[in-house]
Amino acid sequence: QRATVLLHPDFRTGTIDRRVFGSFVEHLGRAVYTGIYEPGHTTADEHGFRQDVAALTRELGVSMVRYPGGNFVSNYVWEDAVGPVEDRKPFIDLAWRTIEPNTVGTDEFLQWAEREGVEPMMAVNLGTRGVAEAAALVEYCNGEAGSRWADLRIANGREKPYGVKLWCLGNEMDGPWQIGHKDAHEYGKLAAEAGKAMKLVDPTISLVVCGSSSMGMATFGEWEQTVLSYTYDLVDHISMHAYYEERHGDRASFLGSGTSMDRFIDRVVASADAVGARRRSDKKITISFDEWNVWYLDTRFQGEAAIPLRTAPQRIIEDVYSGLDAVVVGDLLVTLLNHADRVPVACLAQLVNVIAPIMTEPGGPAWKQPTFHPFAATARLAQGDSLDVRVDAATMPTKEHGDVPTVTAAVTWDGPREAGSLGVFLVNRTAEPVEVELRHPGVALTLGGGVQVTADHEPAAHGPEHAAQVEATHVSELATAPVTGTGAGTTTLTLAPESWT
Ligand code: AHR
Repeated sequence: QRATVLLHPDFRTGTIDRRVFGSFVEHLGRAVYTGIYEPGHTTADEHGFRQDVAALTRELGVSMVRYPGGNFVSNYVWEDAVGPVEDRKPFIDLAWRTIEPNTVGTDEFLQWAEREGVEPMMAVNLGTRGVAEAAALVEYCNGEAGSRWADLRIANGREKPYGVKLWCLGNEMDGPWQIGHKDAHEYGKLAAEAGKAMKLVDPTISLVVCGSSSMGMATFGEWEQTVLSYTYDLVDHISMHAYYEERHGDRASFLGSGTSMDRFIDRVVASADAVGARRRSDKKITISFDEWNVWYLDTRFQGEAAIPLRTAPQRIIEDVYSGLDAVVVGDLLVTLLNHADRVPVACLAQLVNVIAPIMTEPGGPAWKQPTFHPFAATARLAQGDSLDVRVDAATMPTKEHGDVPTVTAAVTWDGPREAGSLGVFLVNRTAEPVEVELRHPGVALTLGGGVQVTADHEPAAHGPEHAAQVEATHVSELATAPVTGTGAGTTTLTLAPESWT
């Protein structure tokens, strides 16, 4: 099989916003307790945060971390998790039916983010709470001395405002599972009022309004248009969430997940632009794809309501990933790069233990899941601008998405036209090798190294030894890319079956 990818540094889609390499830490399962935070662990710093996890977070190349939820945020009382730890009271988190000790709260998280050099993205509770509590949290985080909540932060030991720039107006408010779920009109009005108050506290912040929890929601499209009709002039981004999995052994549909993500983005952009057009507005709403990943939600997840109440930390949705899952994660990143003009923010959900690229054992090691590798390599190599490439490849039929391309590609260019550095990201979704001709008329290329991930056929198995074995068999560093003809004009690469390169 053959495919061609035509590129030129003059044809650019948009600059890659580094926030597209974000991730997510929710008070869920072992994401916080025994994930990022485990006092007494041999690697814990003086604040109780695991340095082995911190080092892997840096190696992953994560730019930004969303907190504290997720579904958790919709019944969260942030005031109960600030101040002296001994005075904090546990509460029943209804989202995950877990007793949350409140040991880690806003200050602990924001100071961890600051030490690790990642930008925080905060969410406010618009499920069980509202305008006043949301505005108070912005004041607590970003206010200068001389007002109630800023002074409380200072009394709690933090003089300097945190300066949190990006704020989510609730989480998945269209979902019936959400505590305090609302219809689009109720939510749109509340989001507009909460956002207005938050921006009056700090006019420099950016706001994300909730879009649909998935493209499969019955209210999809209508929800976006209604919610934006209340908030268009106020917010900067609308959220998207999507999780993909292999259902009933349907490998082709799973490998085609990136095409589904692509269509989802196009449809949300169209919905947002329709609202803008009706308003005759020049403003463009962009996307915060603040939850995306492979998650075996339909096939492995049991649902929470039936589960007895438990005390944190517990093992919840600790999906174990395969090489196949890693290829799909790489392909989803290709889609995100190709939408650099409209998707400045995205979060791999989540960071540690919960559907995560990093796993830990309490008191034990931390290790990388196979999905770690395409994310880390993309965050490292995708620099500068995303190019508007033309891919000419055969299509393959899938049950879930109809015909999808057999090969996908994203190309990035960093620097001036005459001497830039190129990042090429390619996926072969077929079970045969594919020869790809990169066409770069008038541009001479010198290709350096890269990383390749191939899919496996074995079921994923738990533990650091298994992850190391997948890494040894399915992840290879390409010291020099397997290419011919790297001069001006064309360069040919052979892509392994079911691989991300
Ligand atoms: O990431 C896990 C959960 O998935 C989040 O809490 C929720 O927002 C989504 O449904």
